[in-house]
Amino acid sequence: MAESTYDVVVIGGGPGGYVCAIRAAQLGFKVACVEKRPALGGTCLNVGCIPSKALLTASEKFEEAKHGLAKFGVKVGGVELDLPGMMKHKDEVVKSNTGGVEFLFKKNKIDWIKGAGTIVAKDTVSVDANGGTTLKATKAIIIATGSEVTPLPGIEIDEEKIVSSTGALTLAEVPKRLVVIGGGVIGLELGSVWGRLGAQVTVVEFLDRILPGMDGEVSKQMQRILAKQGMTFKLGAKVTGAKTTNTGVALTVEPAKGGDAETLEADAVLVAIGRRPHTQGLGLENVGVAMDDRGRVRIDHHFQTNVPGIYAIGDVVEGPMLAHKAEDEGVALAEILAGQAGHVNYDVIPGVVYTWPEVASVGKGEEDLKAAGVAYKAGKFPFTANGRARAINATEGFVKILADARTDKVLGVHMIGPNVSEMVAEVTLAMEFGASAEDIARTCHSHPTLSEVTKEAALAVDGRPLHM
Ligand code: FAD
Ligand code: NAI
Repeated sequence: MAESTYDVVVIGGGPGGYVCAIRAAQLGFKVACVEKRPALGGTCLNVGCIPSKALLTASEKFEEAKHGLAKFGVKVGGVELDLPGMMKHKDEVVKSNTGGVEFLFKKNKIDWIKGAGTIVAKDTVSVDANGGTTLKATKAIIIATGSEVTPLPGIEIDEEKIVSSTGALTLAEVPKRLVVIGGGVIGLELGSVWGRLGAQVTVVEFLDRILPGMDGEVSKQMQRILAKQGMTFKLGAKVTGAKTTNTGVALTVEPAKGGDAETLEADAVLVAIGRRPHTQGLGLENVGVAMDDRGRVRIDHHFQTNVPGIYAIGDVVEGPMLAHKAEDEGVALAEILAGQAGHVNYDVIPGVVYTWPEVASVGKGEEDLKAAGVAYKAGKFPFTANGRARAINATEGFVKILADARTDKVLGVHMIGPNVSEMVAEVTLAMEFGASAEDIARTCHSHPTLSEVTKEAALAVDGRPLHM
């Protein structure tokens, strides 16, 4: 068995692992990254963020060509769906992104060790593929093995009729009826894709609201908007059984609090009830790495596990399962290993749902602030009153800024609207700098832009919006 020695051995080549590897290499470490998929980039680039956004954009274009362009005085006839063409676009986007990471590895002289890695000793990782390789780590082993789909007991995912997010990215035809189990981020994004392409989408959600964890007003308004687009919601309901038939799937749905069951017929079912940390086969038991009660690798403030020299980042540890959170942890950890002050501000991590309109959020929601007993002021401004939003025919939604009642410091910002995935960056930066709502209100925003809605919401915190 071949043996090599590195300063840092990263297990997992997703946004957490590959970014950590690049930053560690920039800081002068000799780095290996073990990845078992045929391509680098992890869940995010292969079957997550990137392919889903490629399909979201493509399906938005289809929807716009069919129903949106006429309002601009642009006549298009005979709009047709070319599903293989759309999938080809998605596959090309994935390939160029994963290839990009491979290029960056070469550029930074990082060795990609192909195969599944197992920790066999405190400083040793063994890789199964190509006759086997033993990797010695003199400085750190970094667990960045990400997450996997949470299964729903009693419902077997076959990735054809009953799919996870991965299968929902490759359906061969548009299902007439798609039932989505779980009204979270994946359910709404991929439900939107197939809804736009012609599926009748029903979302079955266990709780009495969609997008749990987001500001309550955002959840309510988003449900109204998506219902107007044709999505049906069954809230407070759970799927207790699924039977595959010749034509599709028959689902048994019961009220979450108990009651009579009903049957829902579907051509395809998407199970999207969350993701769980991926630690199988990693050999954590060989060295006694401790986990928490939710199966996540337990770490301290420096990302170190209970075993000195073994660290963990990304979806496999606590915190939001988001690519940018994983990346920032990767950078912070590499810098800590180099003796620098790597740090992640967990209070200011934006979250985006790439539906149309989009949802973006950073910091605390109203419910969080009420529960913590924090006195706050809210300023809200709608896109209907914004010139640019009218010009692009996208006036649904608002920006809401929550600021400390005493100090005016921005504590949270919640947005529904066109391109708010980009607009949230401004307020995230403001919050990183500890800005007040007045700081945002006094910042010159170019006209006519959607970002003027943010400025107006900041003015509204002080009760003085200009255009309403
Ligand atoms: P991962 O990306 O899961 O990477 C871990 C890698 O480790 C995998 O490639 C895996 O093969 C490898 N691995 C595991 N065990 C081993 C082993 N023993 N040996 C070798 N390799 C191993 N987040 C966002 O921020 N924005 C989005 O728009 C977004 N969209 C998403 C859409 C979907 C459909 C899904 C499923 C997720 C989405 N996410 C999004 C979440 C995002 O993908 C994850 O938060 C992110 O990928 C986590 O990065 P990671 O590096 O921790 O883990
Ligand atoms: P999620 O946690 O966002 O949503 C899961 C939903 O399923 C919740 O609303 C939950 O109440 C519901 N649920 C749980 N059990 C259920 C049951 N038995 N029956 C019906 N409903 C049930 O998880 P999701 O959507 O699977 O996404 C997984 C992760 O991927 C998320 O943590 C998210 O952060 C990440 N992701 C991020 C994206 C983004 O940033 N745009 C896009 C897609 C995924």
